[in-house]
Amino acid sequence: MISKRLNLIASFLSKNDKVLDVGTDHALLPIYLIKNNLVSRADGSDISDKVLLHARSNVEKYNLSEKINLYLSDGTKNINIKEYNTLVICGMGFHTIKHILDETNLDNIEKLIIQTNNHYSDLRSLINKLNYQIASENYICDANKDYLIFNIVKGYQDLTDTDIICGLYNKNNVEYYNKQIVKLEKLLSKVNIKEKKELIINKINIYKEYLIKEKTEEKK
Ligand SMILES: C[S@@+](CC[C@H](N)C(=O)[O-])C[C@H]1O[C@@H](n2cnc3c(N)ncnc32)[C@H](O)[C@@H]1O
Repeated sequence: MISKRLNLIASFLSKNDKVLDVGTDHALLPIYLIKNNLVSRADGSDISDKVLLHARSNVEKYNLSEKINLYLSDGTKNINIKEYNTLVICGMGFHTIKHILDETNLDNIEKLIIQTNNHYSDLRSLINKLNYQIASENYICDANKDYLIFNIVKGYQDLTDTDIICGLYNKNNVEYYNKQIVKLEKLLSKVNIKEKKELIINKINIYKEYLIKEKTEEKK
């Protein structure tokens, strides 16, 4: 059994994907993907030799040592990246993710599944600059924590300021929009600077518009 979050990440991967799971930790995702025959290849890398010891023993436990390669590497530095068409980079802060993407030759990478722990807007801008498009942003609440999983594919996308700040609308993210409105309204009551207040009100209004859009679509 993998977590709800990893399960959602896995749902964006498919048969033709040759996946490198960067920051694989205990290799739970590659094991799940190969055991269930969901992708054509799944390997893992991690910067920590300690976690890779656990990863190796997990892979052995499932008799998958012949099928899953594990690399000690900062990002993709020690890896022949041309062997992969998909990168999963999840469970890290934005600055680590940016460092990994900046140092990777992305020529062959068709798909990126990214879950940053912070700075969503910065991630959206970076993806845009790297000439990828956000196919969808997908909210999941797992063990009382909120996550957005970004499903990203190669190609140009014209993102508006609203897209960058509040994310691409997804009818499945209603719970996320409601939670954001509650958070922002709390924040608004504590802020005194006029410009900051305006920014927060603007965000609240965008999330409210997303909720109206969802209700309108539901009626159709
Ligand atoms: C919180 S765990 C997330 C594990 C898994 N990706 C997930 O989403 O459940 C973050 C992992 O990223 C690894 N990591 C951090 N910086 C890294 C880097 N620059 N290159 C590779 N792995 C890194 C850590 O050692 C750790 O195992």
